[in-house]
Amino acid sequence: MAPKERNIAMMGYRSVGKSSLSIQFVQGQFVDSYDPTIENTFTKVTRINSTDYEIKLVDTAGQDEYSIFPTQYSMDFHGYVLVYSITSQKSFEVIQIIYEKLLDAMGKTHVPVVLVGNKTDLHQERAVSYEEGKKLAESWRATFLETSAKQNESVADIFHSIVLQVERENGNTQEKSSCCIS
Ligand code: GTP
Ligand code: MG
Repeated sequence: MAPKERNIAMMGYRSVGKSSLSIQFVQGQFVDSYDPTIENTFTKVTRINSTDYEIKLVDTAGQDEYSIFPTQYSMDFHGYVLVYSITSQKSFEVIQIIYEKLLDAMGKTHVPVVLVGNKTDLHQERAVSYEEGKKLAESWRATFLETSAKQNESVADIFHSIVLQVERENGNTQEKSSCCIS
């Protein structure tokens, strides 16, 4: 059976590790140098609960509080991975603004989201507590994960979580894409 395609967007403030998480998941490596993204797409086929998924990751350019939400991002995606860095309070504030712009653009009160606090290996520089992240995710009814792209900690869990969340929500809304032959 052909894998189910799932389009996922990686969003968040710049330098939080969106590309590093994508590259770690797709290519199994980590690069220390920082190369700001314009836009990149990665594809990986992976098996989750005995179903094959082709995950297409769109790794976006970092956004800030002033970024205008690109309208195509509200149409083309099944789910969103919203990333901040646990070392940056600013990135945690910006992720909340991005989330609100996302809902606005979609005209919805809920979208499938995984909230990710990245860079847990830098624990001495921690500026956002686990509890703060968890609380925010709960208020969104989103899954919450802390990760380290550098140490490959919980990275695959991000993509498994978002795929499963999209499945659950498809089931609830009886969209065609959840049909057994899709
Ligand atoms: P933009 O494309 O500009 O939006 O940035 P980005 O969110 O894609 O961040 P990127 O993955 O390029 O990472 C930025 C910097 O943080 C790079 O120097 C990475 O090596 C570093 N970095 C990313 N993830 C981690 C991590 O988990 N731990 C540590 N220590 N550094 C990380
Ligand atoms: Mg990037």
